[in-house]
Amino acid sequence: MAAFLPRVFSGMQPTSTLHLGNYLGALVNWVAMQETHDCIYCVVDMHAITPSMEVWGGPVELTRATREVAAAYIAAGVDPKRSIIFNQSQVTGHAELAWVFNTVARLGWLNRMTQFKEKAGKDRENVSVGLYDYPVLMAADILLYKATHVPVGEDQKQHLELTRDIAQKFNNDFAEQIEKLGTGTGDLGFFPLPEPMIQGPATRVMSLRDGTKKMSKSDASDFSRINLTDDADTIAQKIRKAKTDPEALPSEEKGLEGRPEAENLVGIYAGLSGATRAQVLSQFGGGQFSGFKGALVDLSVAKLGPIAAEMRRLLADPGHVDAILSDGADRADAIAAPIMRDVKDIVGFVRRRQAS
Ligand code: AMP
Ligand code: TRP
Repeated sequence: MAAFLPRVFSGMQPTSTLHLGNYLGALVNWVAMQETHDCIYCVVDMHAITPSMEVWGGPVELTRATREVAAAYIAAGVDPKRSIIFNQSQVTGHAELAWVFNTVARLGWLNRMTQFKEKAGKDRENVSVGLYDYPVLMAADILLYKATHVPVGEDQKQHLELTRDIAQKFNNDFAEQIEKLGTGTGDLGFFPLPEPMIQGPATRVMSLRDGTKKMSKSDASDFSRINLTDDADTIAQKIRKAKTDPEALPSEEKGLEGRPEAENLVGIYAGLSGATRAQVLSQFGGGQFSGFKGALVDLSVAKLGPIAAEMRRLLADPGHVDAILSDGADRADAIAAPIMRDVKDIVGFVRRRQAS
């Protein structure tokens, strides 16, 4: 029997502006994967509303951020003709499949999710059910297209493991029906077990103020991150103020051990230049941070400046961005609809008759 076709799916939440962690941890890999795979890149607006409304910023902000994230994908190099770019809420299958998966996933599995524990904090009784259910919707995003590869940052690894568990349990629970309807892919079952693709020298970009904390949009200090929309002066200021230690840069990677800030800046340089950490250290090792930071400023401005400019150009015409999202949603739906029909048959839902 044929295996699953290689297909990439990934997404980012439209909550505030994307930063260097999103770019190096995920986006650069998304762009590269277009060469070898059919790619679907989603702006996950339904995930964005899972925290309380004060956190996600409200409807006006959601609309703005959805267009901005789509513009960031395109400006970074995702080609909306070759790949599919759309926002999640336009394709109804995401919510439909998530409901089915709600009955497949177990409470115990969700209770282990570290991202939920971090986001919920001490106030667990008061967070939304959606925040808890977030990883189930994420599994639906991926499996609605039978995607086989998912390029993400390190922090999404556990969610991908859950996705595989859900796919496997669905395949097992409904094995007989899948066999009877002939909708499976041989011994592989109905859904593939998607592979996380966590790649590159910067899969976990850390805060510029504290090398032990992840760079994140929720950090109160804007100096902790470089936003994709920052101008050259802001980038320069943030890098010059980035925390470092008093030692010179080491010449070999093992010299970075126990020096999280140095390791982070070297990882960022490597990610932006396309070099390995070892190559960066062979160039800058033995030198002071000030010289290295100067080079990092130049590199960052050279790489990120054109992305910010292209985002501004795209966002000046929101109608154009919306048209790209609609076109992407049509193409995404064309892939998802037959898969969702099969799911409904497998589960035993009586389907609406097609209008003739
Ligand atoms: P989010 O902003 O949470 O929707 O994340 C979108 C993508 O960016 C996911 O693939 C994350 O794994 C990735 N990502 C977010 N923050 C970082 C970071 N600090 N370092 C590397 N990847 C990140
Ligand atoms: N949870 C992801 C994040 O916060 C975003 C996301 C939602 C996603 N659905 C996805 C990523 C499907 C990959 C595939 O980064």
